[in-house]
Amino acid sequence: MSKNDRSPAATSLPGYDEVDVSVLVVGAGAAGARAAIELADQGVEDVLVLGKRSHGDAHTTWARGGINGALGTHDPEDSWAIHAADTLNEGHFLNDPAKVETVAKQMPDRLRELDEWGMDYSRTDDGEIDQRFFGAQSFRRTAFAGDHTGESLLNALVDRAQELSIPYREDVMITKLVSDDDAVYGAVGFDMDSGEFVLFNAGTVVLAAGGYAAVYNRHTSRDDENNGDGPALAYDAGASLMDMEFVQFHPTGMAVDESDPEWEPWSGRLVTEAVRGEGGRLYNTDGERFMERYSPDQMELDARDVVARAIAQEVAEGRGTDNGGVYLDISHRDAEFIQERLPRMYERFAELGVDMAEEPVEVAPTSHYGMGGVVVDDHGETDVDGLFAVGETMAGVHGANRLGGNSLAETVAFGTVAGDRIADRVDGPGSVPDDLVESVVEPQIAGLAETAGRDGIHDVDAVFAELQDLMWEHAGLLRDEESLSAGLDALARVREKAGDLDVGPITSRSFEYAVDVGFMLTTAETVLRGARERTESRGAHYRTDYPDVDEAWQQNITYERADLGGMRTDVSPVGSPDETVQAALDEGHELDYHQLE
Ligand code: FUM
Repeated sequence: MSKNDRSPAATSLPGYDEVDVSVLVVGAGAAGARAAIELADQGVEDVLVLGKRSHGDAHTTWARGGINGALGTHDPEDSWAIHAADTLNEGHFLNDPAKVETVAKQMPDRLRELDEWGMDYSRTDDGEIDQRFFGAQSFRRTAFAGDHTGESLLNALVDRAQELSIPYREDVMITKLVSDDDAVYGAVGFDMDSGEFVLFNAGTVVLAAGGYAAVYNRHTSRDDENNGDGPALAYDAGASLMDMEFVQFHPTGMAVDESDPEWEPWSGRLVTEAVRGEGGRLYNTDGERFMERYSPDQMELDARDVVARAIAQEVAEGRGTDNGGVYLDISHRDAEFIQERLPRMYERFAELGVDMAEEPVEVAPTSHYGMGGVVVDDHGETDVDGLFAVGETMAGVHGANRLGGNSLAETVAFGTVAGDRIADRVDGPGSVPDDLVESVVEPQIAGLAETAGRDGIHDVDAVFAELQDLMWEHAGLLRDEESLSAGLDALARVREKAGDLDVGPITSRSFEYAVDVGFMLTTAETVLRGARERTESRGAHYRTDYPDVDEAWQQNITYERADLGGMRTDVSPVGSPDETVQAALDEGHELDYHQLE
């Protein structure tokens, strides 16, 4: 890695630093870290990992309940093929079967490797990696570290990366990739601490920058993450997006009294599925265990879309709490068990004055995960040469609905696969051609400089919130043509406001949010357009005007940039599973909830 300092051609432009590197990894969560580790293991040293926060502080740390892999700790009949079959079933067969196989086949090794790297797994009495029930999985397949699995996973990866001396730079936000639509040459961003603009010249760029679940106002992400950076950067660089209309609403976000300042910050925050995986039961305000009506076999552990819609229906029909939720109760388990298996949940509610061992908590659906993302091949490479996308930024593994525990699995599986592919092809630092410096880099830096300190009419936070509110209202759990069209109109109004924002200096939070609004506009538009185009209901996408699955729609919707700032959508067919996975599908495995009782 080396640093340059090219003087800008136009003297009115602010100066910018230059960094040359062979492989630039944008995002320092589990997917980015695992890709960098693979590269280092294969002898590629000229790598730089960028994070928006300090090392070890990525969104992965908020992942709670577990990570899937067919280890068979308790259920030896489990196999990678049944893991793949469960994933396809719950993805309603919109997943790319090859990518699903990649994840399911790799995971037992990836889980053991994390164990060697010091991941703090919960264990059985005889020291094996413990595995718990998670929704819609035929067997106990979800390995975990209490209910802080993401944190333990990332700690292990960061320790490993540090052992390998992988270079890392904190507090950098990438705002644009440098591409001519056919190939990527680097990225432009700024140092959030010093305010310095930076051009990274890179032969290969790996986007590991998360998803887009936080384009909704009620969500489980940190407010400054998952605003769609990864997909929007790739789309802008000429890559295609896919399946963006599929947004997972986790059934159990915290439902709180938003007028109470102590509770308000917790609205929508995740109450891990592990609470239900350890036996938690859902009740409405009539005291009825309502999942008996919706899903008598899989009960509270049916797929997330099924449980989320059931809760929404109970609330809509007047059997919800004043805070718009239902009750989740695990008080039939003893306090010691809850504190051991769900320590963070127990502590959080205890601090708010609720003892989970004595009383239920209130929950309601919340935006949790974008199943869509960037179209990539079997190795994580996009159709822009040298540009890779991994983890939540990529599409293909989850189809119409993701299994809990498969997101962390995808991060390490595809981080490994992409790192391996890049190691084969890396050939030194990139260099941004002069014509792209003029046509892409300098206009981008000029635009950022113009935005910083802009005395516009509209408050950034208000525009940010307006966008999130409209997505919840128009493209939420239940959608229809009229509402989605109205959502697109409302988005156009937000876009106009975003052109005249009142922004602080480059190191301010409002500057970061102003950049985020740009990413959110792109991803929100894809969600609204795709949801309007898909005239059926499937998985997490539920159209009240088309309530059934339409077999003709067993295809993926893709999104591409079109001329004059337009967006083009297209459809592409889905592949077929291989024989082993098909056999597992034909065997018809299914979770039987009643083993838990
Ligand atoms: O509920 C949870 O712990 C979430 C896990 C996941 O989304 O994979």
